[in-house]
Amino acid sequence: MNKKKPSRSPHAETKPATGPIAKESWKPGNVLAPVPVVLVSCGGTADYRPNIITIAWTGTVCSDPPLLSISVRPERHSYDVITAGGEFVVNLPSVAQTRITDWCGVVSGREHDKFAECGLTAAPAGQVACPIIAECPVNIECRVTRRLELGSHHLFLARVVAVQVTAELIDAEGKFRVDRAGLIAYGLGHYFPLGPAIDHFGFSIRRRKTGRRPGPGSGI
Ligand SMILES: Cc1cc2nc3c(=O)[nH]c(=O)nc-3n(C[C@H](O)[C@H](O)[C@H](O)COP(=O)(O)O)c2cc1C
Repeated sequence: MNKKKPSRSPHAETKPATGPIAKESWKPGNVLAPVPVVLVSCGGTADYRPNIITIAWTGTVCSDPPLLSISVRPERHSYDVITAGGEFVVNLPSVAQTRITDWCGVVSGREHDKFAECGLTAAPAGQVACPIIAECPVNIECRVTRRLELGSHHLFLARVVAVQVTAELIDAEGKFRVDRAGLIAYGLGHYFPLGPAIDHFGFSIRRRKTGRRPGPGSGI
């Protein structure tokens, strides 16, 4: 009998069963999804009270030095606040904070005290003058290094100067258990919870106890 061997190709799990995959061509636009959605706190200086803006256009851009970016429309109140202060904090919200996350993205700090109305605590940061959101599990303190006027949005490139992580998310080995933080993602107008971890970085080339490396198609 001519029994076919199972494929060891890296694409074995993603190959369509039959035929080509049909595609539709769309006009250019931002469909990158999912992305993180974050609460950026700013202000808290003599000129501006503490404020919060919801931001989806954010990303890690460099490891050393640690840099991240946020893109903000210049008409936002927070744009003026961040431009004046040169600092902000990226706070990662959890699923329980989804309503707050949405609300801070549809009203302006010009008319609302978002900290007070959301019942959030503006706690002192370690390295920047603007406050962290104490209730968020992760707070990333940032100092602006450059502003790029790209078009609809201006990108603030910022250096991470301190990070705060809720103590209960650090396990006995000192590892940050991001899987326990209940973070939310955003994609094409919707909020999503994160599921459990699938595996860890580099798992595809992890050696088995036998010392042999598994082939990419041999997951099951
Ligand atoms: C899910 C979500 C993501 C958003 N992402 C951005 C963004 O990346 N950049 C931006 O300028 N505005 C973004 N917004 C809109 C601002 O958060 C919104 O205009 C906010 O009310 C501005 O607040 P402010 O006037 O107090 O600065 C987003 C809103 C939501 C709901």
